[in-house]
Amino acid sequence: MTENDFLPGDYQNSPEKGKATWKAPSNIALVKYWGKRPVQMPANPSISLTLDVCATRTSVSFEKRDNKEGFSFDLFFEGNPKADFKPKIYTFLERIEMYLPFLKEYHFTIETSNSFPHSSGIASSASGMAALSLCLMDIERQLDPAMDQASFFTKASYLARLGSGSACRSIKGNLVQWGKHGNIPESSDAYGIEYPFEVNPVFRSYCDTILLVHKGQKQVSSTVGHQLMHAHPYAKNRFQQAFDHLDKLKPVLASGDLGEFIKLVESEALTLHAMMMTSMPYFILMKPDTLEIINKIWAYRKETKTPVCFTLDAGANVHLLYPSSVKKKVLNFIEDELAEHCENGQYIHDQVGEGAIKINT
Ligand code: PMV
Repeated sequence: MTENDFLPGDYQNSPEKGKATWKAPSNIALVKYWGKRPVQMPANPSISLTLDVCATRTSVSFEKRDNKEGFSFDLFFEGNPKADFKPKIYTFLERIEMYLPFLKEYHFTIETSNSFPHSSGIASSASGMAALSLCLMDIERQLDPAMDQASFFTKASYLARLGSGSACRSIKGNLVQWGKHGNIPESSDAYGIEYPFEVNPVFRSYCDTILLVHKGQKQVSSTVGHQLMHAHPYAKNRFQQAFDHLDKLKPVLASGDLGEFIKLVESEALTLHAMMMTSMPYFILMKPDTLEIINKIWAYRKETKTPVCFTLDAGANVHLLYPSSVKKKVLNFIEDELAEHCENGQYIHDQVGEGAIKINT
């Protein structure tokens, strides 16, 4: 599909007002996206597990307006007006206007809330941009009821990408791949796709406990981190490695070989942070407790042979990944050894989910 495929034809309907509500999950990458080119195109392909519990619920009410200058919207976060989110949403609307030409015809009331605790350090941009894109697509479908399901979800992913790259992987469930890869049919830099190859059932119920090591603001944003890959001395090799890791993951995901899975996933997490440490300027997002947790995971795995591993996103929190079959003993391990490294002892249990859902209000 090309960019032109996302430009709509004439709309059949022109409703005076209406509403759309969607809930979209967060996601955690196994092979990481780090580095991009304009506009929000990934420097390398990535793949993620779609989460379930960590999600954003967004409602968009719309009403025809007379003045068609600029965009008109009110924004409420967890019930309260949220002025500081507005510039990001405004930029997003500017970016997607050519694909949703009705945006200036309506006044929108956007109400959004997260399932995870406020300022828990969990990025809400992926679930937030996915939920908002789905609501806007839902409105487009009210204007164009003939739209088919596949186009609906592909375009929602395309729009979400323009809001926040990894958000394009928060539309569909289980495993989502994003970024053109020669050996993955239908893969695209412009949107995420459901992973098209065999996936062992063990991964359909995989658990992710997010250990909240540091809930404060990151010193360096993802936006800046992505940019620093442009003049990065190791960028070329890193991008190639991500392509290779996707090839290596294919038989691992099919067979459920957790030993190989762990090696690949932990290597990806540490490579992501190695890229940060070797950027110019360099930076470190891990905290001492991040390293304490990693060392304890390695010791526990060696001692008990439990297939538990970690991954990291662009922050200090640790995602503990394990199959649901060992959940009980891993929960004890978390309580006994890892919770003490979390801010206020906080962590969130999550698992692989089925993707975004429409909420009927
Ligand atoms: O979507 P962004 O721009 O916030 O970048 C996300 C980057 C990582 O979370 C570090 C990796 C990934 O693939 O999700």
